[in-house]
Amino acid sequence: MAIMIKSPAEIEKMRISGKALRQVHNAIAPHVVPGASTMDLERVAVAKIAELRALPAFKGYHGYPFALCTSVNNEVVHGMPNVKRILKEGDILSIDCGVIIDGYYSDAAVTYPIGKVSPATEKLLKVTQASLEAAIQKCLVGGRLGDISAAVQDICEAQGFGVVRDFVGHGIGKAMHEDPQVPNFGSAGKGPRLKAGMVLAIEPMINAGGPEVRVLADGWTAVTVDGSYSAHFEHTVAITKDGPQVLTR
Ligand code: MF3
Ligand code: CO
Repeated sequence: MAIMIKSPAEIEKMRISGKALRQVHNAIAPHVVPGASTMDLERVAVAKIAELRALPAFKGYHGYPFALCTSVNNEVVHGMPNVKRILKEGDILSIDCGVIIDGYYSDAAVTYPIGKVSPATEKLLKVTQASLEAAIQKCLVGGRLGDISAAVQDICEAQGFGVVRDFVGHGIGKAMHEDPQVPNFGSAGKGPRLKAGMVLAIEPMINAGGPEVRVLADGWTAVTVDGSYSAHFEHTVAITKDGPQVLTR
């Protein structure tokens, strides 16, 4: 499948979707505190998405039952909101959400520390977020997809972290997942050329330990094989002649 090129008018629609998604994340953030359950956060998200007249992009996707993915500590991605999952000081929580407005998708994730976390965990979050920012800066017309992948891999592996291979970022637009796949590992200068009008969801998933993950018996929750903590940050980014535009900022 070819990589879809969006017109400036389509990118404006995706910007509206991305802006709404940021409002959803902003509404959730103050509720991410010790004692909250991950289902409390799902409820905040569902209410905010409805208020914004958006649709939750994840709900119903291959049967996924929630608007949010809430992944705690050693959970990498696709953790499910649960009334019994109570956040406590020292945990980390990744919140992944997508919305649809006027047929256009946006997708973004952030990992929060719950209260005070260990210095090693703080570093995991900082480095993962920095790798996303570096990857965004590689979203340049004339560059290559591998530039994005290599930026994440180089930064995270230099710190001894494990770059997850089993899940990747993706093109996004009128569907949540479009071509191309956007791996968090690869070689600069390789892969498809980046063109104005491409929109990518870039989403480093980085483990404090090894890169291996497995999926639990619930069919969704991906966890680190070695039990190490895992961080996930994601933005939806448009490539334009004026440079990268983060639609979910
Ligand atoms: N944000 C995820 C992605 O980029 C989607 C979560 S899968 C779902 O692939 F089932 F929760 F939708
Ligand atoms: Co995504």
